[in-house]
Amino acid sequence: MQEIQIHNSTFESYLTENEIDSSVQKIAVAINSEYQDRHVLFIAVLNGSFMFCSDLLKKITVSCAVSFVKMQSYEGQETTGKVSELIGLSEDLNGVDVVIVEDIVDTGNTLEKLYALLNDKSVNSIKTATLLYKPEAYKKNLPIDFVGIEIPNEFVLGYGLDYDGLGRNLSKIYKLKKH
Ligand code: XMP
Ligand code: MG
Repeated sequence: MQEIQIHNSTFESYLTENEIDSSVQKIAVAINSEYQDRHVLFIAVLNGSFMFCSDLLKKITVSCAVSFVKMQSYEGQETTGKVSELIGLSEDLNGVDVVIVEDIVDTGNTLEKLYALLNDKSVNSIKTATLLYKPEAYKKNLPIDFVGIEIPNEFVLGYGLDYDGLGRNLSKIYKLKKH
């Protein structure tokens, strides 16, 4: 099994490029069918979702636009419980159908904050697409509409996800190795 060292932690290979690609494809097919003949605004949550968003949007065939928000809840390998909005949304979102694009939904704190922001802007509808979902860690009741892969409550990195800034460039997903 391929292992990598990031900062002082060891990570082992977890999801291959093929597994990631089929999950992205599965989500795209579901979105294309759900929003047939409609227009979608994808709102990708930076930094983690940049790679997923890019791959997903190449497979989207319905009319769409994309915008970005920057949120932060993790420090190192732990969630802080507080979510800060580092870059916000400036456009008029009144009546828009939004699909939130997340790399991973963990506790759901980020999602909850984003829902509140979007509801304040009178959007028409909100759905969430996430590549990874940790059901054991999720504490909210908001629906997660398009899920790529459910994973156990373990720290992962690669394909946009980082450990203190490093690892985002990896094309596979790795998980923290237990000692
Ligand atoms: P919450 O808890 O708000 O977390 O649902 C969402 C954000 O936290 C980051 N996150 C992770 N980042 N490996 C990472 O590299 C993980 O295992 C992990 N879990 C959560 C991520 O930015 C996500 O959008
Ligand atoms: Mg994120």
